[in-house]
Amino acid sequence: MIKAVRGTRDLLPPETALWNFVESAVRDVFRAYNFQEIRTPIFEATELFARGVGEETDIVAKEMYTWEDRGRAESDRGQSLTLRPEATAGIVRAYIEHKMWDRGLNKLYCIGPMFRRERPQKGRYRQFYQVDAEIIGPASAGSDSPARDAELLEMLATLLDRLGIADWTLQLNSVGCPNDRAAFNEALRKALQPAMAKMCADCQRRAVTNPLRVFDCKVPEDQPIIETLPRISQFLDEGCRKHFAAVQEILKAVGVPFVINDRLVRGLDYYTRTAFEFTHGALGAQNAILGGGRYDGLSEALGGPPAPGIGFAIGEDRLVMSLQETAESVLKKPDVYVAPLGAGMNGEAARLARELRRHDLVVDLGDENFRLKKSFETATKAGAKYILIVGENEVKADAFALKNLATGEQISVPRTELARKIVE
Ligand code: HAM
Repeated sequence: MIKAVRGTRDLLPPETALWNFVESAVRDVFRAYNFQEIRTPIFEATELFARGVGEETDIVAKEMYTWEDRGRAESDRGQSLTLRPEATAGIVRAYIEHKMWDRGLNKLYCIGPMFRRERPQKGRYRQFYQVDAEIIGPASAGSDSPARDAELLEMLATLLDRLGIADWTLQLNSVGCPNDRAAFNEALRKALQPAMAKMCADCQRRAVTNPLRVFDCKVPEDQPIIETLPRISQFLDEGCRKHFAAVQEILKAVGVPFVINDRLVRGLDYYTRTAFEFTHGALGAQNAILGGGRYDGLSEALGGPPAPGIGFAIGEDRLVMSLQETAESVLKKPDVYVAPLGAGMNGEAARLARELRRHDLVVDLGDENFRLKKSFETATKAGAKYILIVGENEVKADAFALKNLATGEQISVPRTELARKIVE
């Protein structure tokens, strides 16, 4: 038997209703903040991620699905392609390719699958889904303002509250700018020098090539050493400190709670200044529902003009998991199961079902070949609230037997009153 590939999974009903619920709430909230949808390809040139996300990150070094794509003709040269491990690099590529700075400030979002070859576990998959949003544009449009950082974070708080996710924590940090980074990296290298030999192989490599990435380490034995390392907060320059203070001030003004976590550096190299994660207690080890931050130099790194930006990605799989408790109210069961009874009744029953569906009722329709007992069993299994019997006598009388499957109460209802009776 052929099974789904390790780390991938099928999303089946009724859970898909939860996904739709999340996506429609997300789209509603985005509309209120004037975000618009963008769709970019799910594979890109490998170089985009190497340059955008960073060679030394776990994502690029270990987790990408990359292949050599052979050209089919001379005009169609082969190249190295990669399934997108994240959406930001592709969106910034599109920003540059379509000269989107002409539009001023772009507020964009996309929803779709991402691919990372991670070790699968609860809440971690090799194909997973993100809801990604980005604010990007020329600085003249205000793209570098702390007001945008705060607006994005307030929007996320609004979204999580609206979805009924109560116990989230916003973890906030500033990872500074290239100015601060040089001094910080230097200090990290120095601090790591004596301890390096005791650390994992990854950290030994990171300590030399990109010491900031040491903070991504999950190896328990390395944590006491990492705890003693200097923090970026001690190295922020005047501009970065002011920016970070302004973000916090607006968050306080709008009443969005946060905690400062100065260990939070995020696992992608493009971040500058504000970096954040929302965590949720019920999720266990993979407790980050979403993450994001500012990437003021990313456009230039990809060959574009200066274009400060900030964004986030929600892990939709994890968001849906943390929603599981409210699932019951979202999963819509049929209002009524229409059961044709006896030969020649399929047409009449279909006519009735059509009328009821026009009244926005959820209607399941049976088959005249089913005996009454089987119709009842099918309706009960589907979780229908009512069963409506459509037999010859009912059609003649133009009134139908409507039975409440929970209470067992049965009444005869004229055709014209059916919809009203069912929603009652
Ligand atoms: P990220 O932190 O790598 O950021 O991913 C964002 C979220 O995607 C995570 O918090 C998590 O919920 C979810 N996620 C990541 N990997 C997996 C996985 N293997 N299985 C399930 N869920 C996963 C980014 O991707 C950035 N592009 C976010 C961003 C946008 N920054 C600025 N703009």
